[in-house]
Amino acid sequence: MRAMTEAKKLYVKTYGCQMNVYDSERMAETLGAQGYVQVDTPEAADMILLNTCHIREKAAEKLYSDLGRLKPLHEEKPDLKIGVAGCVAQAEGEEIMRRMPIVDLVVGPQTYHRLPRMMEAVDRGERALDTEFPEEDKFAHLPKDRRTRRGPTAFLTVQEGCDKFCSFCVVPYTRGAEVSRPAPRLLGEARELVARGVREITLLGQNVNAYHGAGAEGSEWGLARLVRELARIEGLDRIRYTTSHPNDMEDDLIAAHGECDKLMPYLHLPVQSGSDRILKAMNRKHTAESYIRLIERIRAARPDLVLSGDFIVGFPGETEADFEATLDLVRQVGYGSAYTFKYSARPGTPAAERAPVDAAEADDRLQRLQALITEQQRATQNAMVGRRVQVLFEKPGRMEGQITGKSEYLHAVHVEGPESLLGQIAAVDILASGPNSLAGRLVG
Ligand code: SAH
Ligand code: SF4
Ligand code: F3S
Repeated sequence: MRAMTEAKKLYVKTYGCQMNVYDSERMAETLGAQGYVQVDTPEAADMILLNTCHIREKAAEKLYSDLGRLKPLHEEKPDLKIGVAGCVAQAEGEEIMRRMPIVDLVVGPQTYHRLPRMMEAVDRGERALDTEFPEEDKFAHLPKDRRTRRGPTAFLTVQEGCDKFCSFCVVPYTRGAEVSRPAPRLLGEARELVARGVREITLLGQNVNAYHGAGAEGSEWGLARLVRELARIEGLDRIRYTTSHPNDMEDDLIAAHGECDKLMPYLHLPVQSGSDRILKAMNRKHTAESYIRLIERIRAARPDLVLSGDFIVGFPGETEADFEATLDLVRQVGYGSAYTFKYSARPGTPAAERAPVDAAEADDRLQRLQALITEQQRATQNAMVGRRVQVLFEKPGRMEGQITGKSEYLHAVHVEGPESLLGQIAAVDILASGPNSLAGRLVG
């Protein structure tokens, strides 16, 4: 009896990177236009969408274990629809269909604008799979209705795909070639977000600083130009971008870090290894030295910049000396935070053909690198004590009367303060540094 009157309920689970978070939001909007409202638990849902990540073996395996766990729910509710999206869908769509009969729909990262049509097939009782790399721009086909009020921070995908083919990485295969969205559309989307309460936008791309999109009147804009134009939007106070590649860090973007107040002093710039031999085997096309020189140039433009990075340990052929070179690089750079990963062989990538490093050795290196990074992260955070920062308050704190937000350096900061400050930026004097956040006092 319920079907005609009650809204259909959608549960979305997102794995992987920030672009998947953005995609999940857009997919939920697309299905929203089909009458779906989002719910917080799989049990409450008529449709479950798992937006997956393929970057490491463990990430991909999670999909199959989560699907296994959904089996009893599916038995209880035979009308429940289950969809798989994202990078595992792209890489193993047909295998998912074969192995998992409870899956009704598989959609890749480049075809989710076709969800409404696919859902029609699913509603007819068919199974639908679409993992093409279509000619058309999916963003041009997504619903534009993004009117409801929302939190003060948002992601905005400006560039997608990767042409770099690092020898360990699946992203060029799952996301396809580098494509940049036209700048006028991005400015429009940013203005809409601001109208809905957004104060901070993080521009997303697999290689976001490789952005070269159509600008106004036939011109082409790089990321620096895009940032400068976005900075003119009144009410948009903060701009960030991620993930950037060292080889695309052009002079005008470095200059923008010194000149554009709205561009926040935090940069995620992965290097992966400090050994030139390993960097070469990874096909990174830069050296440890060139990376360090680049950091010096960016810091000259913006001395208080907080840096973050990604590292892989245990890449095939990595010796103790190679690993020591990574530790050296980390010591030279000084990171405010960094992500450390144990190399995971991915099917279809060139590095997967090479002999692996002993697993215990790789574990040991991971722990040593993590210890060094944690030390640097703590030091960077502790150095904030006594300073005045600007905090964009995002949500109530864990304790009554507290609110929390992020500083310009992306540190979590909590203070005693009124909820009326949520969505606002306010000055805070930092009083103390905890394991993962700072505590402060509102100024004035
Ligand atoms: N485009 C971004 C990030 C891509 S994936 C960049 O080039 O920096 C995010 C991180 O996952 C990578 O920076 C890398 O450190 C890690 N990663 C990618 N493939 C991996 C693999 N096969 N094993 C372990 N870590 C991996
Ligand atoms: Fe993967 Fe390298 Fe492309 Fe980053 S630059 S997405 S690590 S291939
Ligand atoms: Fe994962 Fe795909 Fe992002 S593999 S990290 S979800 S681009």
